[in-house]
Parts: sequence; structure tokens; C-alpha cells
Amino acid sequence: MDTEPTGDSPRTVDLGEVDMLEPGTAVLVSGETSGYPEDIGLFRTEAGDYYALDDECPHEVASLSEGWIEGDEIECPLHSSRFDLRDGKVLCLPALNDARTHKVEVRDGRVLLFPGTDAP
Ligand code: FES
Repeated sequence: MDTEPTGDSPRTVDLGEVDMLEPGTAVLVSGETSGYPEDIGLFRTEAGDYYALDDECPHEVASLSEGWIEGDEIECPLHSSRFDLRDGKVLCLPALNDARTHKVEVRDGRVLLFPGTDAP
């Protein structure tokens, strides 16, 4: 993964070109890559939109980027709670807490991640 500071702020990471992820797939962005203390899951919906959440499920220890994307939702691979990728809201049990969002923007054909900045 190509990461370049963008000059926007120290918390902006250029993850690569807009087609870096196939629609309907996800990847883990390590804290080492992003400079954020937690791993971040980067998700691309079938519609081609990018979203980012804390990678660790708020329920127990599972990687949301290993889950299944359906529409604008991610299903946890361990106990199948679903979260809205747009705002991190938990949509069904057993998880009770929302997932933390991170802002992602596609600008000039590049995917920019803003670790620690809530999605708008
Ligand atoms: S670890 Fe994700 S729902 Fe249980």
C-alpha cells in the first residue's frame, strides 16, 4: 500500500488510486500505515463508495475487514452483527455498541484516509 502525506494535515494518508480495492471488498490499514493507534478497516461497497471503521468489532475480537459487505453494511465474520458503513451504527445483536468511523475521501482519483476524524 502506497502511503504519502498529502499536506492536508498530519492525519491524512493517501492510500492509493481509486481502483485500489475492487467493489465489494475490504482491506485492513494497520496502525503503522495510518499513524492511528488502532487498525482501520477500509471498505468499498459494490456501488464503489469508500468507508472506514475501526477494524476491531466493538463486540469481541474480530476483524470487520474480514466480514461481508452487503449494500452499505458490513457483517462481522464472528457473530454476524451488522454495522452501517456510513455512520458505524450497530444494526443487530449481539453487538451493542457502534463502530467508530473515519473519514475517507476520493480526491483527484486518490483515496484519502483521515484517521481519527469522524466520517461526515
Ligand atoms: S465479534 Fe463481531 S459480532 Fe461478535
